[in-house]
Amino acid sequence: MSKTATFTRRGIGTILAAGLLAGGLAGCGNSDTGGDAGSSGGDGKIVLGFSQVGAESGWRTANTTSVKEAATEAGIELKFDDAQQKQENQIKAIRNFIQQKVDVIAFSPVVESGWDTVLKEARDADIPVILTDRAVDSADKTLYKTFIGSDFVKEGRLSGEWLVEQTKAATGPVNVVELQGTTGSAPANDRKRGFAEAIAANPNLKIIASQSGDFTRAGGKQVMEQFLKANPKIDVLFAHNDDMGLGALEAITAAGKVPGKDITIITIDAVRDGMQALADGKFNFIAECSPLLGPQLMDLAKKVHAGESVPERVETEETTFTQEQAKAALPSRKY
Ligand code: AHR
Repeated sequence: MSKTATFTRRGIGTILAAGLLAGGLAGCGNSDTGGDAGSSGGDGKIVLGFSQVGAESGWRTANTTSVKEAATEAGIELKFDDAQQKQENQIKAIRNFIQQKVDVIAFSPVVESGWDTVLKEARDADIPVILTDRAVDSADKTLYKTFIGSDFVKEGRLSGEWLVEQTKAATGPVNVVELQGTTGSAPANDRKRGFAEAIAANPNLKIIASQSGDFTRAGGKQVMEQFLKANPKIDVLFAHNDDMGLGALEAITAAGKVPGKDITIITIDAVRDGMQALADGKFNFIAECSPLLGPQLMDLAKKVHAGESVPERVETEETTFTQEQAKAALPSRKY
């Protein structure tokens, strides 16, 4: 294995264009079914078992679409399972994939810890595993072949650096509330860390409340309502994804405050609804997190199946958006 690789959207297009045959969808548990349920398809197709986190956000929906479309494009037979944000469902799905003797397993781990046993089972069965989107904290790096996804610490840091720049003239405390993603997940842990490290540069910035909204709109709304009740002065909201920020907008408006003006709002993802809120002046800044991982995942699945070496990490190349940049980018936004 070699070092980190990055890719651009142009790269995604190239790989998509290079896709070969059409593939079916098959699954287990709460899964899409169809196509040949057997592995190493009788028709010679690579069979990829994919355990998705759930459908908690606009980002996740775009990611699922990307994976399914890319599998079809690449001629890979996909067995897709939706774990409904539960680790036990993902473990069951992976065991099911092992039993079915799929060629490759890929999954987006809902939380970072607790995967070693099932990953050892996959390794014992000689099935290569690819981590997509979220990492695991296993010390044994031989339990999986590669990781494809974002640098979540960087996303948090870019959000914090933007805030530091905006508040550099502040002479008194600037109160920040934080809506964390799913407790124990890599994006929640890493974004929290990156943001905290960056805002340490301005001692006026204080995180006065921080709680999980589980990456959902409903969670964002509910937790923001509590924050607003408990804290008379909130200057900034940092939400770990657009969906929680969008839920929080409802709570802020209901409390008689103007989002984007009375409360500065920073989020992560840059899905269409989030970008619309930014262009409309309700959000103030978004750090992008790309969900378009499907084409690279299929490319990696082919390589690990063929026994070729792959990079240890394949990181997505991402940007940030201000309100003006969102207005310009929205018309061509793909998700
Ligand atoms: O793991 C990626 C995160 O998961 C996205 O930022 C969030 O929207 C999703 O639910």
